[in-house]
Amino acid sequence: MQIKRADFITSMKRYDDYATRGLPQVAFAGRSNVGKSSMINTLANRKGLARTSQVPGKTRLINVFLLNERLNLIDLPGYGYARVSQSERFSWGEMMGGYFSQTRDLRQVFHLVDIRHEPSQEDREMNAFLRANGIPFTVIATKSDKISRGARLKYIAPICRALLVQPWQIIPFSSVDKTGCDQIVQRIEETCFPEGAESDK
Ligand code: GTP
Ligand code: MG
Repeated sequence: MQIKRADFITSMKRYDDYATRGLPQVAFAGRSNVGKSSMINTLANRKGLARTSQVPGKTRLINVFLLNERLNLIDLPGYGYARVSQSERFSWGEMMGGYFSQTRDLRQVFHLVDIRHEPSQEDREMNAFLRANGIPFTVIATKSDKISRGARLKYIAPICRALLVQPWQIIPFSSVDKTGCDQIVQRIEETCFPEGAESDK
């Protein structure tokens, strides 16, 4: 699948299927600052499509993007951002809970973790949530440009242990050098259009 077009559709606090028009969707979840919005920009090949920031806690709402007018990418607000107030944390939980219970078109979650860090308690909880709800997911190890290629396996091992996945199931990704980009676009296509009939229309 070649990404020919990417549009920002809307930001929502309360998820509603009206904006996604029944098209298949993939969602991006993970800790604040892990690189979710950057990844969407890289996949779409559009800097500034999704807002990014060096400061964690940039994405505070559920953001919907349309790719090639036939599938949606859902940028979710990050977790684990220590400086949000108790009430904001509550509304994050409500937003996420609302999204996962309301969406009917979610095909896959990309669960992003920083390749350099052992997954946090919240990463483990996210993983447990996805498993408990039978939501297909792929673990993405972001910012892979920060370590050498040869060191990848060493960094990926603790992620595998914490999130109960095998090394080959994890996709290393970098928004800086585009490592993993093609593989992820392919994964999006396979999960959104398993029948293959829609490919490259
Ligand atoms: P929230 O919206 O707060 O949940 O964060 P986010 O997960 O959307 O992170 P965002 O994409 O805003 O990126 C956070 C910071 O990490 C920015 O300064 C990015 O430039 C940087 N960043 C993102 N991806 C990469 C990457 O692959 N490599 C490197 N070196 N930096 C990255
Ligand atoms: Mg973001």
